[in-house]
Amino acid sequence: MAQQQRETWTTRVGFILAAVGSAVGLGNVWQFPFQTGANGGAAFIVVYLLAVFLIGFPAMLAEFVIGRRAERNPIDAFARLGHRNWKVVGALGTLSAFWILSFYSVVGGWVIRYVIGSVRGTYFGGSEAYFGAISAGPEAVAFHAVFMALTVGVVAFGVTDGIERSTKLMVPSIVVLLGGLAVWAGTLEGGAAGYAYYLSPDLDALLSNLGSILPAAVGQAFFTLSLGMGAMITYASYLGRDDSLPADGATIVILNTLVGLLAGLVVFPILFSLGVEPGSGGLGAAFITLAGAFAQLPAGRLLGVAFFVVLLLAALSSAISLLEVVTSYLVDNTDRSRRSLAVALGLAIFLLGVPSAFGLSILGWYNAIAYNLLLPLSVLCLLLFVGWVDAGDGVDELRRGTGLSESGAAAWLWFVRTVVPLGVLVTLLLGLQSLAVRADLLAEAIV
Ligand code: PFF
Repeated sequence: MAQQQRETWTTRVGFILAAVGSAVGLGNVWQFPFQTGANGGAAFIVVYLLAVFLIGFPAMLAEFVIGRRAERNPIDAFARLGHRNWKVVGALGTLSAFWILSFYSVVGGWVIRYVIGSVRGTYFGGSEAYFGAISAGPEAVAFHAVFMALTVGVVAFGVTDGIERSTKLMVPSIVVLLGGLAVWAGTLEGGAAGYAYYLSPDLDALLSNLGSILPAAVGQAFFTLSLGMGAMITYASYLGRDDSLPADGATIVILNTLVGLLAGLVVFPILFSLGVEPGSGGLGAAFITLAGAFAQLPAGRLLGVAFFVVLLLAALSSAISLLEVVTSYLVDNTDRSRRSLAVALGLAIFLLGVPSAFGLSILGWYNAIAYNLLLPLSVLCLLLFVGWVDAGDGVDELRRGTGLSESGAAAWLWFVRTVVPLGVLVTLLLGLQSLAVRADLLAEAIV
């Protein structure tokens, strides 16, 4: 209800697991190993880790600082901090969440299909044909609806009864299942080549490809940490407690990174044991090659179920954070029940996503707009706000509840003012360039 008692997480662990649930998603288990493959293996990981810790971590703290201080949804947060004009930045983040969930849910629908397909062994006869059949068309729309309904189902129950309770179950399940799969993957014959590819960087390759690796790594770092979409602002707005933001943030970033690395320890030995080169192909490649691998392995159905259930839990715990961003705005501003708001928003987001369920190239466009434009632009504006407009108060907020020294907080502020926005700016410019190339290709195709 508007302006009434605001919900808060019941425990510190509850907040951390919810935020880890948001961060760990399709980005870690599906995109990260394949981005690594497409960008030359271990060399990409080095740059990615630098991007996560030097750029992503300070930016996450910036979102936390806004959220915890304002105790409001991302749009009203700026007004509450005394800067009404900056509401537009919160609106950009909220819009991004709305946009991204619309096609994230389509991919979530594919994952549900793959869980079912693994149980039945449906894709064992031909993984490429299976992907083609389920990824676009009316069935893809139907499972997009199922995934969205699950997301709405969690958010409708609220912050503690819905999000906190479900992520407390989902996140440990992801870790246990993925750990089990990694141990099993370690027993595969020929899998060791996968570790070498994944874990020993070729520094010459890194230096010569830095121009393409850098934006991919920074973009991936933001996406995986759920930055730029108001999610971390929203989750921090339910803190209502004075624990250390840097300690919680570090825990979240480290857990998220470990889950991504663990996914690589599953994916690469599997692919190498079957002689498949990682990295080729686009959005669908991960589904096709991995499903193809499960089809060839003993106990493939069981492995397929375990892997795709991990992917489903990861996708769901991220999707709920995106829906919560938008829902929190209306919960804070209307008298309607959270339940009816979540349902109405779920329906609207579902409709927005429908076109992307009719073709991979449309989905690719949705993704490119988010990745190359909305996300970096939104993060950049946030950084300007925290770094320059609200700097003093932000530093005080960061230190609240910690033993962080003044110089430690000053170091953070320095990063937020310099290294981080610079990295984002470069990523934004390169992203815009790649959007322009995409538009040119489209125009040529039409003419
Ligand atoms: N971090 C999620 C992933 O890696 O899949 C995606 C995501 C969720 C991005 C929530 C942004 C967000 F607000």
